[in-house]
Amino acid sequence: MINLGVNIDHIATLRQARGTDYPDPADAVAICLDAGAGSITAHLREDRRHIQDRDIERLAVIPGLHLNMEMGANEEIVAICKRLKPAACCLVPEKREELTTEGGLNVVAHQSHLTDVVARLTEAGVRVSMFIDPVPDQIRASKAIGAPVIELHTGHYADYQGEARARELSALSDSARLASDIGLIVHAGHGLTIANTPSICAIAEIEELNIGHAIIADAVFKGLHQAVADFKAVMVR
Ligand code: PXP
Repeated sequence: MINLGVNIDHIATLRQARGTDYPDPADAVAICLDAGAGSITAHLREDRRHIQDRDIERLAVIPGLHLNMEMGANEEIVAICKRLKPAACCLVPEKREELTTEGGLNVVAHQSHLTDVVARLTEAGVRVSMFIDPVPDQIRASKAIGAPVIELHTGHYADYQGEARARELSALSDSARLASDIGLIVHAGHGLTIANTPSICAIAEIEELNIGHAIIADAVFKGLHQAVADFKAVMVR
C-alpha cells in the first residue's frame, strides 16, 4: 500500500502570517493520521519562514510518529536533525529567494559533501532520502553516495500540460524503475493535486507520496462551512 506523507508546513505559514500561536501544525498530526496518512513531513527552512524549531522539536517527540524532516544540507540544520533523530529526512536544495523547493538536488555536482551528510545522518539513525529530478545520473549518484531512498520531483509534471506532461510522466516512470532496479526505495512529491495524483500512483515502484500545498488548500474549502457555522452558532447563543 502506497504511503501518504502529509506536509504540514502551510499550517505554520498561516500562523506565521499573523504571528499568533494558532493554527498549530502539531494539532494536525492526529487528524492526518486518522484520515489515512502514514507519516508527517515538515520542512525546517534556513529562514524559518513557516516551521519553527519548536515545531520540529515537538513533532520529533510524538510517540510512534514517522516524521520526515525536509531540509537543506547545511550544517546548522544537519546538526538539528542529528539531535532530534526523526525517522526520516529528505535533503532538498534550498534558496532563500524561492517560493517553494524549485527543483531537485544536484547530487552529481555535490557528491562529496552529500556523501558526508548522508553518512552522518545515517549514523544517527535517520533514513535519508534525496529529492531529485527524474534523471538517470542523479539516481545513480544518489545510490553511489549511500542514500537508501530517493524522492522524485513531480513539480514539472504538475506544471506541464499535454505532450510535455506525458514526457515528464514517462521520465518519472522510467526513473522509478531504474531506481528500484539498483536497490533504492522510491518516493515522489511536489505539486500533486487530487487531479494529477492518480497517474503518479500508477507507477508501481513508488512507495510514498509527500503532499502539502493542495491538501491544505483543499482543507480550507472542505472546512470553511463548519468554521463559519461554528462562529454563527456562538454569536446567536
Ligand atoms: N516533497 C518535497 C521534497 C518538497 O520540498 C515539497 C514542498 O515542501 C513537497 C514534497 C510537497 O509539495 P507540495 O506542497 O507542492 O505538495
